[in-house]
Amino acid sequence: MTTGPTRNPSNLSNEEREKRMWEKLQKGEAIETVDEMSDEYYDNLTNLMLQQADSELAGAFGYVPWIMKAPTTEEKLAVANIVKDEVRHARAMYRLLADIGVDAESHVARHDYTLRVDLKADELKDKRAADDKRVNIFYYTIDSWTDFIMFQFCMDRGAGHQLEDVRRSSYGPWRREIERIFKEETMHVSHGDFWVRKLAFDRSTRSEVQKALDSWYPRTMNIFGKPRTSHNTLYRKFGLKARDNDEVRKGFTDEIRLRCSECGLRLPDWKPDWEKMEEDGVVSG
Ligand SMILES: [Fe+2]
Ligand SMILES: [Fe+2]
Repeated sequence: MTTGPTRNPSNLSNEEREKRMWEKLQKGEAIETVDEMSDEYYDNLTNLMLQQADSELAGAFGYVPWIMKAPTTEEKLAVANIVKDEVRHARAMYRLLADIGVDAESHVARHDYTLRVDLKADELKDKRAADDKRVNIFYYTIDSWTDFIMFQFCMDRGAGHQLEDVRRSSYGPWRREIERIFKEETMHVSHGDFWVRKLAFDRSTRSEVQKALDSWYPRTMNIFGKPRTSHNTLYRKFGLKARDNDEVRKGFTDEIRLRCSECGLRLPDWKPDWEKMEEDGVVSG
């Protein structure tokens, strides 16, 4: 982790910071400054926040072509606003990281957020395509307007379920920032829902919507990570997550199943290969 000059400004020892941290956490108080974080808490917090920040930026870049390719001028504006939201979310997250000493601008400069893979025959599943920290679903290309709205229907909804835990995070600045992000993400999900319903009830586009769901649903299911991982246990111990990965995934599945049945869409089967899956479940926007 590259850190800037503000990391541990008071020069307190790790032991002293750890003591202060547990005093606060045990009282249910939020952590507000780096002086109150142990090194381990800091590393886990910055890892989770970078995953969200990189996902927000990569997400924005993936949507950019759909400003030009959206079917109407009204939709071009809607996509432009969504891109603006995602870049704002990224900036807010990188600012929070900079506040605790992460050299966020150098991190961004080192990675290519326009990078996409086209692996129609060979899905990434839980694998990564580069060493940035985006959720791996943001490596896939969005090939059609139906893909674009299905991405919102599935991934923005999935991200919303993950961000629910951040609303209860032990890190105060992130918990406060997420509320505004959350409101905008809810609007993105509504936009996806509106269009999925519209295209699913149209005979000429129904099979295309089902096909897009068949691709994006399993990709979304893979973002949550394996059940009962050591990372998740640690995140929960620090109050950085509130639930097991599988519990978050179940909340998402229950909701999307209902939405699909309302539109007459069939939720595809998804069978996890826990043995082969990586541990991380990750946040995103
Ligand atoms: Fe979004
Ligand atoms: Fe976002």
